[in-house]
Amino acid sequence: MTTCNKLGTVPRMLQGRVCLVTGATRGIGAATTEALARMGATVIATGRSAERGQDLISGITRRTGNTGVHFLCADLASMTEVHSLARAFMDRWDCLHVLVDNAGTVFPTRHVTVDGYEEVFAVNHLAPFLLTSLLLPVLRSSTPSRVIVTSSYEHRRASMHWDNLQGERFYFSQQAYAQSKLANLLFVYELARRLEGSGVTANAVNPGLVHTNICMDSGWLIRTVKRMMDRFSAVSPEEGADTGIWLASSPDVEGVSGRYFQRRSAVRSSRASYDVAAQQRLWHISEELTGLSERFGA
Ligand SMILES: NC(=O)c1ccc[n+]([C@@H]2O[C@H](COP(=O)([O-])OP(=O)(O)OC[C@H]3O[C@@H](n4cnc5c(N)ncnc54)[C@H](OP(=O)(O)O)[C@@H]3O)[C@@H](O)[C@H]2O)c1
Repeated sequence: MTTCNKLGTVPRMLQGRVCLVTGATRGIGAATTEALARMGATVIATGRSAERGQDLISGITRRTGNTGVHFLCADLASMTEVHSLARAFMDRWDCLHVLVDNAGTVFPTRHVTVDGYEEVFAVNHLAPFLLTSLLLPVLRSSTPSRVIVTSSYEHRRASMHWDNLQGERFYFSQQAYAQSKLANLLFVYELARRLEGSGVTANAVNPGLVHTNICMDSGWLIRTVKRMMDRFSAVSPEEGADTGIWLASSPDVEGVSGRYFQRRSAVRSSRASYDVAAQQRLWHISEELTGLSERFGA
């Protein structure tokens, strides 16, 4: 068990801080993990491939000299594995100052997880909902602490299809993805309200259009469009990760919660994302689907 000091303020450098980053094996998550390690944090990177995890850690350790970078393996499409991940983390670390819910995916056709959930909804929304909820006790005891969820500009194209939440009736890849990114915002705003005054903040980030692997499992049309956009307007994973890293580390955002950021500025998200009834409805559905209501008797 690693014991950490409680720090009153977020230092410029993250020495003594413990950060957990999901989806750390590629793209924005890998860049975030490396930047936090460079600032001296203990970083727990998570991903579903132990081999990619080991490569990531050895590369970051070599480049940054930080030996406090670790890897925990979990497929976030499985709620059982999300539970195991939270347990594995809490078995080894007794504090968590920054949780970055970053892992994300998109599929051209409807995939169903081992739990019977549509996979984009499960990985992009249910997994961060469950992981954050399970880690809340340690976030609360490590205050000031921060939750950062990677959303997307795409949320603006979405509304919540309550009667087709998991593409049961029809499935369009872009709609499933955009809805999951709107769900990220509904979750963050409700979480921030529930955590008011606790010392744990919750914010969402839009990394912009970033040259990464996302969409590369999609159909040829989406792949082609993404490749063209990448070529002409996407930024590097390091640039895309910048606002999330800033949210994780900067004293400028100490105590700031329930906001949506892009390019280091708080901006308004879509009108649908501020619908409090929708935030609460999604929260209750997510509790039911992840079994949290049973566990906590909520
Ligand atoms: N790229 C963009 O233009 C853009 C724009 C807006 C928002 N975003 C958001 O940014 C976040 C990161 O995406 P990215 O662009 O960096 O994409 P990426 O390069 O494809 O990275 C996605 C990460 O998520 C992990 N992941 C996917 N499914 C998983 C699962 N079932 N269990 C565990 N980990 C899983 C991947 O692990 P593997 O290595 O195992 O595949 C990878 O580490 C996502 O939430 C995405 O929605 C991206």
